[in-house]
Amino acid sequence: MVRYFLSFFVLVLLAVVSMAGFRGQKFTNTPLQVTPDMKHQPKVITQHASGFFSDNRGDHPLIPGTIPVGYNLAGRYLQSGVNNLAADSAFTSELSYKDTGIMGDVYGNGIPIAVDAALLERGRERYDIYCSVCHDRTGGGNGITKAYGLATVASLIDDRIQAQPDGQIFSTITNGKNTMGAYGPSIAVSDRWAVVAYVRALQKRQAVKAELLSPEAKAQLEKK
Ligand code: HEC
Repeated sequence: MVRYFLSFFVLVLLAVVSMAGFRGQKFTNTPLQVTPDMKHQPKVITQHASGFFSDNRGDHPLIPGTIPVGYNLAGRYLQSGVNNLAADSAFTSELSYKDTGIMGDVYGNGIPIAVDAALLERGRERYDIYCSVCHDRTGGGNGITKAYGLATVASLIDDRIQAQPDGQIFSTITNGKNTMGAYGPSIAVSDRWAVVAYVRALQKRQAVKAELLSPEAKAQLEKK
């Protein structure tokens, strides 16, 4: 038993010395890397040369016509508070009603930018891009994600959501709610209001009274 222990002890000692014993020594050779892990990554480092591009530069000037999010065509950062859809695509962290949907301590009602056909069209476009995957294009909550297991998507046509003030819907878009993520970082402030206006339009569309329908529309519905 003692003999086994001794030989084991000597083996461990040898292993420790061979691994750690010469660590103070300086080598001039390239170290042997048994597992290089991620020491060498083929990536571009800012302000460094790179052999990947023919001019050996890592950084490159922007391709003409590139517009970063939140900038206009002239490369100027856009300010919020301008009711001009083309120009106002900014993100802010201000505390005004327009930026939070909150008035004092409660959600406010009303859309703080002019609602016109262009705004609704913009809202439809943004809604179809960002919301319809879950809430579907009619707002009914039967988007494609349902087929993949996201079963609890709220219907935006629900009386409960219809009764919410505009500011609350704005806030849901900005911050998310329970299993719904926040869309504040990806949708600019005025675009969020455009989506709110469009959600209102979706709700109204589904609540049209029968007597307001044209005879043709009525006939078409009765056929179904
Ligand atoms: C990834 C899926 C997904 C996307 C995309 C999404 N939502 Fe939702 N949304 C949900 C789910 C899930 C709920 C229900 C959350 C819960 O359990 O309360 C919800 C709830 C809501 C509610 C109701 C909140 C409440 O008070 O109960 C509103 C309003 C809403 N979403 C609006 C939007 C709008 C507008 C967009 C687009 C900007 C959007 N959602 C994008 C999944 C999504």
